[in-house]
Amino acid sequence: VEPLRIALAGLGTVGGGVVRLLDTNRDLIERRAGRAIEIVAVSARDRTKDRGIDLSRFDWTDDTSALAHHPRADVVVELIGGSDGPALTLARATLSAGKAFVTANKAMLAHHGLELAQAAEASGVALKFEAAVAGGVPVVKGLREGAAANAIDRVYGILNGTCNFTLSKMEAENRDFAEVLAEAQALGFAEADPSFDIDGIDAAHKLSILASLAFGTQPAFGDVAITGIRHVLGADIAEAAALGYRVRLVGVAEAGASGLFQRVHPHLVPIDHPLAHTTGSLNAVVADGNFVGRLFFQGRGAGDGPTASAVVADLIDIARGEYGAPYAMPAAALTRPATADA
Ligand code: HSE
Repeated sequence: VEPLRIALAGLGTVGGGVVRLLDTNRDLIERRAGRAIEIVAVSARDRTKDRGIDLSRFDWTDDTSALAHHPRADVVVELIGGSDGPALTLARATLSAGKAFVTANKAMLAHHGLELAQAAEASGVALKFEAAVAGGVPVVKGLREGAAANAIDRVYGILNGTCNFTLSKMEAENRDFAEVLAEAQALGFAEADPSFDIDGIDAAHKLSILASLAFGTQPAFGDVAITGIRHVLGADIAEAAALGYRVRLVGVAEAGASGLFQRVHPHLVPIDHPLAHTTGSLNAVVADGNFVGRLFFQGRGAGDGPTASAVVADLIDIARGEYGAPYAMPAAALTRPATADA
C-alpha cells in the first residue's frame, strides 16, 4: 500500500509536535491508518533554527504556497496560523489543486470557513480541523458524531488554555496575572500575539467554529460579543471563591427565538459545575442535544502533544478514507445566522 504523503507548513510548537508524534508512534499509526503516514516536504520561517528535528529527510521550500503543488504530497497540513496571508493562500491553492487540507488554524476558519468548505466540496476533498477547536479534545468529531442525529440548543465551554491556566493558577497559587501568563507562554500554550488569548479572541474563533457545527451556520466571528480576562483581578477571584464560584472564560452559543446568540466573557461558575473543575490548560465543551442529552468533552486544549494528536487523528481518517459526514464542515448545510445578537 502506498503511504499517505504529507506536505507540512509550519514547524512551530504544533508542527514540531506533529513530526515527533509521527516518528514516535510510527508503527501504531501505520497499523491504525492501514498505511504509513509520511512527511515528504516542509516549509517554515527559519530553516536553520534548532528544533531538535532532522529536516534533511524532507524536501524544503521557502515558498509556502508551493506545497499545494508538491508532486508527491497527497495532503497539505497547515500549522502556520493567521486568518489571512500565507495560510489562506495555501488553503485556497491546496483545495483548488484537489488535495485534502488539514489545519489547526481557528482564526482562518472563523473568518473564511464557509469559503474553504465550499472549495473542498467543489473539489471533492477533505477539509479537516479537529485541532482548531480545543486542541486535543475530539470535539469536532464528538459533535459531528455524538450529536449527528440531534438538534442542539446550546453549546458552551472553556476554549482557551492560556486563559484557563492563568485563571486557575491565579486562584490556586494566589499569583499575579502577568507572572502566570508568562508561564503559559513558556509552556507553548499562548498565541504568537497573546492578546488573542487574554482578550478572548482565540476563544471567540473557536466558539464560532463550534457554533457552525452545532447549528449548521457559517462561522460568524463578527457576531461574537467578546470580553477577555485582562481586567480580572486576584481580588475578584478571591471574592468569587468566598461565594462558592470560580472565574472561568466561557464561550456560549445558543439558538434563541431571535437567532443565534454567541458570546465570550468571564463567567462565575458554581463550584459544583464541571467547568469549575476544568483547571490548567484543560478545555471543556458542553453540548445539549434533544435526544442524546448532555455531552461533556474535556481534555488538554493547548500545547504541542494534544494539538499534534488532533492533527494526526485527522490524517489517520484521511488515510483510511474517512472524511467525515461528508466533509468536516459541509458547506451545503451552512447558512447565515438569523441575527447577530439577542
Ligand atoms: N493559544 C491557544 C490556547 C492555543 O491557549 O488555548 C490552542 O488553540
